[in-house]
Amino acid sequence: MKIFILFSLILFINSADVQTCLCSNLQTKYDCENAVKFQAASQDLFDLKVCIWNEGQCLDLLKDVVVPCSALDQKICGNLPSCAWYNGACQTFTKCSDYQFEKSILSQSCEGINCLDNGTSCTFDLIGRGEQSCEQIAFEEDCQRMYILYKKTICNWNGSACVGQSLSSCSSLTEKQCLQVNSQCAWKNNSCVKRTCEDGQYSSFVQEGVKLCSSYLDIETDQVMYCEISEDGQCVTSDPEELGRKDCYSQSFQQYTWYPGDQECQKCQS
Ligand SMILES: *[C@@H]1O[C@H](CO)[C@@H](O)[C@H](O)[C@H]1NC(C)=O
Ligand SMILES: *[C@@H]1O[C@H](CO)[C@@H](O)[C@H](O)[C@H]1NC(C)=O
Ligand SMILES: *[C@@H]1O[C@H](CO)[C@@H](O)[C@H](O)[C@H]1NC(C)=O
Repeated sequence: MKIFILFSLILFINSADVQTCLCSNLQTKYDCENAVKFQAASQDLFDLKVCIWNEGQCLDLLKDVVVPCSALDQKICGNLPSCAWYNGACQTFTKCSDYQFEKSILSQSCEGINCLDNGTSCTFDLIGRGEQSCEQIAFEEDCQRMYILYKKTICNWNGSACVGQSLSSCSSLTEKQCLQVNSQCAWKNNSCVKRTCEDGQYSSFVQEGVKLCSSYLDIETDQVMYCEISEDGQCVTSDPEELGRKDCYSQSFQQYTWYPGDQECQKCQS
């Protein structure tokens, strides 16, 4: 029963409604096991899948398997977004705000179940198992780095609270906001403009350091723009059908998967 409740939680409305591969479409262990990681990297939380590879098939833990979280040890529990280690036992994950921890371990413990904390309990689901809203975020620092891609909503700190602002273009954003929305925008020549592959992006929680070359959604058209790393290490526009085994799923905004039989990257038919 709990599984169905959890599943219905993640059927919220997307502004762009991007169709991505189902777990059952994924033909290789590599694509299957990395599904959550790839989704998080491109901030593509349009419909979170929890895929597991079992006897040559990729299954969706949320749809195809009733996971007895209670049977899992702490390590496996911690790696499954559908379970949470809480009060010394592995339980079916419900929602962030159901989890409270002692102050001294609150922040770390919430992070461990992919949530932020608000000073007293866990809140804001970082991987989109439940609906995300800026208003759930209690701290300025968290607020000012959050962009909810599937809602095209940037979180702004207004002095005392975190408030969401929905976007339809990059043009009105300040330099700081532009960086916050670097999955769709780039700061160039003193203005905020649409991102290109060449601009790359930082992962959602690191606004410095290594840039990712993820594919992205055009903020104005909601079309997926495909990018890949070229032979000389640049992030460039790509044709997903030309992608190799390792890049096919991760660089196609989870829309293509590698078919080992045909040795081809093909669009998922779901
Ligand atoms: C933190 O979140 C909990 C659960 O949603 C809520 O009851 C509480 O009021 C929040 N506290 C703060 C300081 O926002
Ligand atoms: C900030 O937003 C909160 C929640 O919407 C509101 O209650 C508060 O008045 C706002 N503060 C300022 C300074 O605008
Ligand atoms: C930057 O903006 C200035 C003034 O609008 C323009 O003349 C110049 O061509 C722009 N440079 C680039 C690289 O776009």
